[in-house]
Amino acid sequence: MDSAVQKYLDRGLQGLWYPVLASWEVQSTPVGITRLGEQIVVWRDSNGQVQALEDRCPHRGARLSLGWNLGDRIACWYHGVEVAGDGVVKDVPAVERCPLIGQRMVLSYPVKEAYGAIFLWFGITANQEPEALVFPEELTDSETYSHFLCTAAWRCNYQYALENVMDPMHGTYLHSTSHSMAQGERKAEMVLDPTSSGFIFRKENQRGVNFDWVELGVSGVYWMRLSIPYQKRFGPGGPFWIVSMVVPEDNDNCRVFFWRIRRVTGWQRDLWRFMYRNRLEKLHWAVLEQDRLLLENLAPDARTYEYLYQHDVGLSRLRRMMQKTAQTQLAERETQHALR
Ligand code: FES
Ligand SMILES: [Fe+2]
Repeated sequence: MDSAVQKYLDRGLQGLWYPVLASWEVQSTPVGITRLGEQIVVWRDSNGQVQALEDRCPHRGARLSLGWNLGDRIACWYHGVEVAGDGVVKDVPAVERCPLIGQRMVLSYPVKEAYGAIFLWFGITANQEPEALVFPEELTDSETYSHFLCTAAWRCNYQYALENVMDPMHGTYLHSTSHSMAQGERKAEMVLDPTSSGFIFRKENQRGVNFDWVELGVSGVYWMRLSIPYQKRFGPGGPFWIVSMVVPEDNDNCRVFFWRIRRVTGWQRDLWRFMYRNRLEKLHWAVLEQDRLLLENLAPDARTYEYLYQHDVGLSRLRRMMQKTAQTQLAERETQHALR
């Protein structure tokens, strides 16, 4: 593949919403993060609304995340320039009548907060309007389902984290000693079924025994969904659902988001929430650590030299999909550039 396309893809597709932090990680103190290779400052204004700007003071490039939250704006630590959440300079306290005041000098990111996470919009071009952000029903239907959000930073390119979820067969091996993935056949034929927003990749002859299927959807955000049966001793509520998203930080780092979900109401919900906090969360962390350990220690450039087999059809499909999108986006950027 074209190396420019791969380079673009390694950094992260644009034209999408991404979860960037858990809600609890952002209070009034500005937080500096890197996502899709961009340095971003995120903070809560005095109304509790999350704001996000390019983390660069328009004066001389200090990181705004080192500055102060003044309620409706932040102030740079270096010489006090004040910038609001829309990127407009509100004040330059060090001089009389500075022409910077009132100008939009800093790139701002559209923000949405949902299901315990903060989502930012990354446009293909600076002025691209955000798309609608549509979540799977296991999140939107809070009457029927109850969730916990778990997030972690992994030292690997985000594509490995995505591909890991698109590979159900690893459950039977990597997680064979876990509390939920010890059962079932250790061999399978895999099939792929297209859906309206993506596709389902599943074992042909086994369902409801182990990690037997996964779905990829694109609806303003890339999401993956799967379910794994739960033993009776982990309480009522049927299978355990996971909705997963990944955001690139830079070429070698990403952040994974997993919403852990069960279909529970009333006392069953209380029991699930109690058991999760006291017992299950630890077990799930142990499983996630197995994924992290494996992915962080893949051979250098693992994706460059591989021998894929039939179980990798799901991730190959995902790669082709993303490569095509990357090509289109690169072309769009170049056209925009040429017009300027
Ligand atoms: S660099 Fe921010 S005020 Fe000077
Ligand atoms: Fe896993």
